Amino acid sequence: EKGAAHKLRVQVEAVEEQDSKPVVRILYGTQTGTAERFSKALGNELRRKYGSGVVVEVTDIENYKGWEQRLSKEQLVLFLMATYGDGEPTDNAADFYSWICAEGEAVEGGEKEPYMQGVSYGVFGLGNKQYEHFNAVGKRMERVMGALGATAVVRRGDGDDDDCIDDDFEKWSAELYEALGGAHAHLVGGAAGVGEGAGEAAAAPAASAEYLSEIIEGPIAKSAMAAPFRSGTGASASSPHLATVTAVRELHTSASGRSCVHVEIDISGAKGLSYITGDHVGVLPRNSEVVIAEAAELLGLPLDTVFKLTAKDGVSGLAEPFSSPIALRDALACFADLLSSPHKESLAALAACATDDAEKARLSRMAGAEGKAEYQEFVVKAQRSLLEVMRDFPSAKPTLGLFFASVAPRLQPRFYSISSSATRHPGSVHVTCSVVRDVMPATGRVHHGVCSGWLAAAKAGDQLPVFIRHSHFRLPEDEHAPIIMVGPGTGLAPFRGFLQERQCLVDDAAELGPSVLFFGCRSRAHDFLYEAELSDFVESGALGQLHVAFSRDGPSKDYVQHHIAREGARVWELLRKPGACLYVCGDAKAMARDVHRALIEVVGQHGGMGGAAAEAWVKHFTESGRYMRDVW
Ligand code: 2AM
Repeated sequence: EKGAAHKLRVQVEAVEEQDSKPVVRILYGTQTGTAERFSKALGNELRRKYGSGVVVEVTDIENYKGWEQRLSKEQLVLFLMATYGDGEPTDNAADFYSWICAEGEAVEGGEKEPYMQGVSYGVFGLGNKQYEHFNAVGKRMERVMGALGATAVVRRGDGDDDDCIDDDFEKWSAELYEALGGAHAHLVGGAAGVGEGAGEAAAAPAASAEYLSEIIEGPIAKSAMAAPFRSGTGASASSPHLATVTAVRELHTSASGRSCVHVEIDISGAKGLSYITGDHVGVLPRNSEVVIAEAAELLGLPLDTVFKLTAKDGVSGLAEPFSSPIALRDALACFADLLSSPHKESLAALAACATDDAEKARLSRMAGAEGKAEYQEFVVKAQRSLLEVMRDFPSAKPTLGLFFASVAPRLQPRFYSISSSATRHPGSVHVTCSVVRDVMPATGRVHHGVCSGWLAAAKAGDQLPVFIRHSHFRLPEDEHAPIIMVGPGTGLAPFRGFLQERQCLVDDAAELGPSVLFFGCRSRAHDFLYEAELSDFVESGALGQLHVAFSRDGPSKDYVQHHIAREGARVWELLRKPGACLYVCGDAKAMARDVHRALIEVVGQHGGMGGAAAEAWVKHFTESGRYMRDVW
């Protein structure tokens, strides 16, 4: 008993000591893993700089439960927040973001007093300048924290994925370290220079993490092996449902030179799993056999190697890799991003295990500040894949523990707008997927998209893990309200779902409001997706008008926005009706922006407004929730 009491006291003391230390909380909103990667690197660097003087917590914002009470008690919070889609937060940040925005509005509207005066914060936004709402989430976070009374310790950083986002992050981190070494030193344990390496600029990325890996020799019972995925509810990425492909069909003619597939996936086996027309489906793909065979060869292990991974004690941010024992074949297929260009952290991890001095030196250089230009040229510009880089540095043979922790990022799910209607096909989601096949200019490598390639090669009966992601893309509740849909290319997907939904209403003899679809493709002969189905919708009245822009059939480009301009009078007439909705789906960088401009033109011209008034009209229309965009 005495022993137990002593143990308890030691534990309490440890907790108290921890309590008295300054806490730096890093919260990240990530979609493809970049904000998470930066957060972990930042956490490691802060721990390295300030040693045991501070407690650094790196937290997925979704797991920051109880934020309503916790946030205002924090000392220093660093937000690394990505913007996704049409200026939206990432899935894992959605709930937190809507809460904090509401808090900000309450303060700005005078309903609440600012109550975060004790909190210091920094924001690094992640986005892409090609998109209209560049870093909308990061910008809003900064405004809201300011409104709530919190103190900024560093200027907001804007990471631009169109350029070199790692550089942007490094620059922001350097400013942060400077602030923490100067005016804000009390937040990390007192005067500057308290920590081991305080104030000094980061050179190469922080040391790579590693799991303990153990190769299991000899036969192992099948029952003792972990399947890559166990079938879950299908309600989120963490619990995908193992669904079955029931049909795959090519939508282009063979002469198009490209491929776009229609895939039907049976989800009826997932009890309670349903979708709403307009939702997205997340798909967890597998790398192809060719790719995983090459990876295994580079690792120097046969594909049927069975191994076990465990997190090393005390390494934070490295919990639950994936279930094991697992066959190398499955782990490489399902969990390793092998075809993206490696990040600097991956190069640092390869450098750590390279046995050839020249290779080690070059990898370290490219991973650090000194080799920035070389990294840009060799990796980024040439779009070299991780496998290609590994091939060029054959002495770098990571253990499986190092490989899965630090060399290969985790393979991310891919999202598709569901192209079926939940009323017509409640137990099946349809996907309209253009198959990625690009020739890399510098190396001549043919890049096959991981997920689209898998879907294109799938056969009826194949299984794949999927989950449903709800979207805001919804038909109006009032079926009499007019709808205008704009969706070139695979942007047509959700509108096929909408039209199937309307077809069900027509079949029930309902009277529907007007509808117009603007679709665009290269040529009538080759890539006019679902042509027969669309003309059936027109015939039945499910679709009022169909306008198709063929961009490469005539002497000059014909795009959906040109048709919108030509149909301006009709578009304006419909938009003014009560409850009218406008939908745009597809490419965000060029198409959605051009369509937006065309819309303002139409409103100005046909609504008899000047430019500023037309813009204000569109803004108001957007804010009323009737201009919906599902863009990527
Ligand atoms: P293009 O490839 O011939 O330029 C689906 O991808 C269709 O969208 C194609 O016909 C493509 O034409 C077209 N498209 C390309 N850029 C566009 C833009 N900025 N606005 C509208 N449509 C565009």
